[in-house]
Amino acid sequence: MSQTGFVLPGTDVSIPPMGVGTWAWGDRATWGMGGYDTELTRASIEEAWQASIDAGVTLFDTAEVYGGGESERIIGSLLAADPARAKVVTIATKFMPFPWKVDVGGSLLRAVRGSLERLGVAAVDLYQIHGPISFRSHGALAEALAEARRQGLVRAVGVSNYSASEVRAIAGELDKRGVKLASNQIEFSLLRREPETNGLLATCRELGVVPLAYSPIGQGRLSGKYTAHNPPPGRRNFSAHPMQLVDKVTAELRRIGEKHGGKTPSQVALNWIMAKAVVPIPGAKSRAQADQNAGARGWSLDAEDVTVLDALAFPGRRTLQSRFWQHG
Ligand SMILES: NC(=O)c1ccc[n+]([C@@H]2O[C@H](COP(=O)([O-])OP(=O)(O)OC[C@H]3O[C@@H](n4cnc5c(N)ncnc54)[C@H](OP(=O)(O)O)[C@@H]3O)[C@@H](O)[C@H]2O)c1
Repeated sequence: MSQTGFVLPGTDVSIPPMGVGTWAWGDRATWGMGGYDTELTRASIEEAWQASIDAGVTLFDTAEVYGGGESERIIGSLLAADPARAKVVTIATKFMPFPWKVDVGGSLLRAVRGSLERLGVAAVDLYQIHGPISFRSHGALAEALAEARRQGLVRAVGVSNYSASEVRAIAGELDKRGVKLASNQIEFSLLRREPETNGLLATCRELGVVPLAYSPIGQGRLSGKYTAHNPPPGRRNFSAHPMQLVDKVTAELRRIGEKHGGKTPSQVALNWIMAKAVVPIPGAKSRAQADQNAGARGWSLDAEDVTVLDALAFPGRRTLQSRFWQHG
């Protein structure tokens, strides 16, 4: 179990054992800001930001495509307003290599400069390829990342949604250029255990690549507040198993949480991920959610709990299309 955090390979960038996902910040279609979620406001985001940092959850994950750049803009304004806290945070963002970006080197450099401007920082701590959806070779993408690093625009480089063979291929291409692949951000939760069973986590471990788990609370489904009678709102279509089946998992999360002194289903779901030495990056829309998610740290499930949850977890499969095209 890793609750001490990681130093990203080949860099001096350290990250805590858990981070915060900021897709919801500024996004309307999936997460409802300015739409169905009237409680998701600039003020609630600022509280989530402050509560997370105060609890030592200092890694924030965003992307150029979240809210059409709005997530990065919000983080930029939070950093500017709070220089003391800004000093302790690690910012991860992403480049979307849409297939029509044939000049991937030029596109990536333009994208990272855009991100830097929105974030208001001189360099991104961790810059990730959002997914393996480019027609260009692993070598071309590795060269683009390496060039951004040479120019001092990014400190560490990673990927997202890469399979074991894709991780191996791009890590090899980066190695040739003297750069280490730092991370692979993947959907990993009790609603999708596949990365553990198909060898992806083992490959990351072998290559020293840190795995980050996105949608670790199953886009809110594993929090226990949504049920078959109260399904989640918005376009949350990752691992959208029938809620009757998800209800059985949340019942078990509740039972295990009780055993550990009243931990919530979300906290148990996040602790299960950290038990696999994977860094969950749960989204938080408010101080209450950020505080609760931070409480997934500082205690451990026992081996028996992990075995029970492993057996209950959904194996999980997703199409490429559902991975990418819902990002606003
Ligand atoms: N690389 C990729 O392709 C990719 C894809 C998806 C996500 N991501 C990243 O991963 C991050 C996290 O994933 P995600 O946002 O999809 O899903 P998630 O973290 O599993 O779920 C987040 C949502 O669950 C609810 N929630 C959070 N904490 C809660 C708590 N303690 N109690 C009750 N409800 C709680 C909130 O929504 P409600 O309150 O509205 O229910 C919140 O927006 C994203 O923000 C993004 O940074 C990356």
